[in-house]
Amino acid sequence: MSLLKSPSGEPVIRTVDLEKTYQMGAVRVDALRGVSITINPGELTTIMGPSGSGKSTLMHLMGCLDTPSGGSILIDGESTARMRESQLARMRNRKIGFVFQQFNLLNRTSILENVAAPLLYAGVSLAKRKKLAVQALERVGLADRVHHKPNELSGGQKQRAAIARAIVTQPSLLLADEPTGALDSKTGHQILELFQDLNRQGLTVVMVTHDPEVGAMTRRTITIRDGLIESDIGPAGGVQP
Ligand SMILES: Nc1ncnc2c1ncn2[C@@H]1O[C@H](COP(=O)(O)OP(=O)(O)O)[C@@H](O)[C@H]1O
Ligand SMILES: [Mg+2]
Repeated sequence: MSLLKSPSGEPVIRTVDLEKTYQMGAVRVDALRGVSITINPGELTTIMGPSGSGKSTLMHLMGCLDTPSGGSILIDGESTARMRESQLARMRNRKIGFVFQQFNLLNRTSILENVAAPLLYAGVSLAKRKKLAVQALERVGLADRVHHKPNELSGGQKQRAAIARAIVTQPSLLLADEPTGALDSKTGHQILELFQDLNRQGLTVVMVTHDPEVGAMTRRTITIRDGLIESDIGPAGGVQP
């Protein structure tokens, strides 16, 4: 199966006039104020912008980890607007991999079990879970750490394990929110090369970064400021770099 083509022939994800407002007591924060983005299959996109500009909010909405206050999200052409929480959870599990700055691994269980966990929720048999988890760990260069626990790994290895967990279900979209933010620059660079490798193999990747050098590594860069798109440069954005 080619990962380059989404099954529906639609963009992998599309947001239309996306809005998110947080209400904290009397304080209202308009974190996103109408963000429209189309991500096509096979793209590698970075999202940049100052702290507090709405990057994480956007990633959480695209990953169906939170629901918008306005606008809509289409994943493989399918609107999430009317989905119940159980449907959203299934959508997340099948179509989206998420990588966090702080890895979010379960410290008590082995790397293999951490990576296999999304398959458990997807109802995959034990034997197949193990096989697919080992394959994912091989793809990120961590096949020799299968039985280690997260706290027995370096930061870079933890992030590799978290990436294996994110790709084990063969999602159509990999979202990463400052995936190198907790790593030193050399290790961070290796992780970025891994994202580039995975993208060359057909995976669609969107990642948030603070680092302008990282932005320069990808063909498309979207800049967000105060909850709005400031610029969108590269393939689907229409302006070629
Ligand atoms: N759960 C939340 N509750 C209230 N306000 C929030 C919440 N998450 C984010 N915000 C606010 O929304 C704005 C955007 O935050 P965020 O999306 O985390 O920005 P970034 O990732 O670009 O730093 C900020 O002003 C932040 O304080
Ligand atoms: Mg953030």
